[in-house]
Amino acid sequence: MSEKREVLFEMKNIEKIFSHVHALDHVNFDVRKGEVHALLGENGAGKSTLIKILTGVYKKDGGQIFMDGKEIEINSREDAANAGIAVIFQELSLIPTLSVYQNILLGKEISKFGFISDRAEKKQIQDLIDNYGFPVKATDIVETLSVAQKQMVEILKALATDAKLIIMDEPTASLSSRESELLFKIINQLREKEVSIIYISHRLEEVFNLSDRITILRDGKNAGVIEKEDIVPSEVVKMMIGKEVSESTASRELKTSNAENVLEVKNLTHLGYFNDVSFEVKKGEVLVLTGLVGSGRTEVVRSIYGADPYDSGEILFEGKPIKPTVRRSVANGFGLIPEDRRTQGFSPLLSVTKNVALTNYDKLAKSGFVKKADEDEIGKKAVSLTDLRPANPNVRVGDLSGGNQQKAVLGKWLTRDLKVILIDEPTVGIDIGAKDEIYNIIEGLAQQGVAVLMVSSDIAEVLHVAHRILVMREGRIIKEFNDGVATQEDILLASSGFVENQEVA
Ligand SMILES: Nc1ncnc2c1ncn2[C@@H]1O[C@H](COP(=O)(O)OP(=O)(O)OP(=O)(O)O)[C@@H](O)[C@H]1O
Ligand SMILES: [Mg+2]
Repeated sequence: MSEKREVLFEMKNIEKIFSHVHALDHVNFDVRKGEVHALLGENGAGKSTLIKILTGVYKKDGGQIFMDGKEIEINSREDAANAGIAVIFQELSLIPTLSVYQNILLGKEISKFGFISDRAEKKQIQDLIDNYGFPVKATDIVETLSVAQKQMVEILKALATDAKLIIMDEPTASLSSRESELLFKIINQLREKEVSIIYISHRLEEVFNLSDRITILRDGKNAGVIEKEDIVPSEVVKMMIGKEVSESTASRELKTSNAENVLEVKNLTHLGYFNDVSFEVKKGEVLVLTGLVGSGRTEVVRSIYGADPYDSGEILFEGKPIKPTVRRSVANGFGLIPEDRRTQGFSPLLSVTKNVALTNYDKLAKSGFVKKADEDEIGKKAVSLTDLRPANPNVRVGDLSGGNQQKAVLGKWLTRDLKVILIDEPTVGIDIGAKDEIYNIIEGLAQQGVAVLMVSSDIAEVLHVAHRILVMREGRIIKEFNDGVATQEDILLASSGFVENQEVA
């Protein structure tokens, strides 16, 4: 779309000040009708804060919002809904035991529709679904749907209230690549129907493919607005973070190290989750488990840690068989950094220091009590290891931006003396500058002799970090890359099941 459409809404000189941070400093932002507009910026740049002001979650400290040229006030979620603004939340807000159409009806209670019969409603919603060709039925029960389908129901909910603007904050974070493709198709359909979309994602490739325009924030200020035809990826990254970052398309020289095995997994099976999984992780090695979302990688890692059971097979630590429980794993020097750090893994009301200290009390309280100075030191260490922003260990974790909350969880574990670290999707939601630092931390741990087992779906990341790569598919390991160089294409093909020479059972 190259002709410039009419402006739908405009935010002018938006100000937001939290106790310690000037989160938004005279920010301007506008979206046109039927435009996909990406909002980019590093962790803590102010993206979510701007959206929260637009949707009535936060009150602005200054500035104006115009809709169709008229100034409006948005002081509540209802105000936002009435102005035709809908948000697809990361934590989906559906009721699992109800059907698709019942969930959509719940959303419509705040709409202007009058009461009509249940049957007519069902039909009306099925018509809406058919109109967009979404692969769900009005009568499907929500808990039987995939994450991607649930997201579609959220989108339908927005459409049923006649939303003119739909905001998506990292919608693909938990989608497989095929599901993401479907979402992109839907976004393109919405655009054709003149619905405007604000799209927030740290996955730059999809941002560049989808967006008609990009607004970049940096440290709470406008850093640039770019039309589709002027997008130069390396320039955009420079605007975001002020330095250049190279994306790798091929791995380092892969090899099987001859160091001793720290962790061995033999024929591990958890029926319905994974089957006959065998591998070992050596001292100082970074072994990456990749494959499609849902291929069983997370489940394997959780069983190794003792967070989930398994049915058969064996796990050995330093050559001795172990029956993992979370307690024993911690005592053995295992760390698990879970995938879903947004909902697991921190206490929002406590400071960064307290959160880090909680994970480390076994070490801190050697003599039965904890010295405040030790606590403070470990808090500071976590902040510097992860480049946390703001670089203040006394900030409550709940007040950090999404990406910085994730860094705080990483910090809790990285400050420990570990023998084995299990990291699931280390950089989901983390910006491209901080990613590099996390990769350095992982490599640093390996150099100290830690055995690293990492799960990742981000192929550029897999290639960048791995010493050796295993690909899982449908609960089994179907391919190992342990010599030469692997490329993006190799990994993609293996993940989708195209494997000629199987090297691993
Ligand atoms: N409720 C709050 N109380 C105090 N500070 C806050 C609060 N919400 C956000 N902030 C601060 O405002 C700044 C902007 O945060 P925001 O959540 O908007 O970033 P973001 O661009 O969405 O980042 P991310 O990509 O990590 O999600 C950050 O410094 C953050 O710590
Ligand atoms: Mg955010």
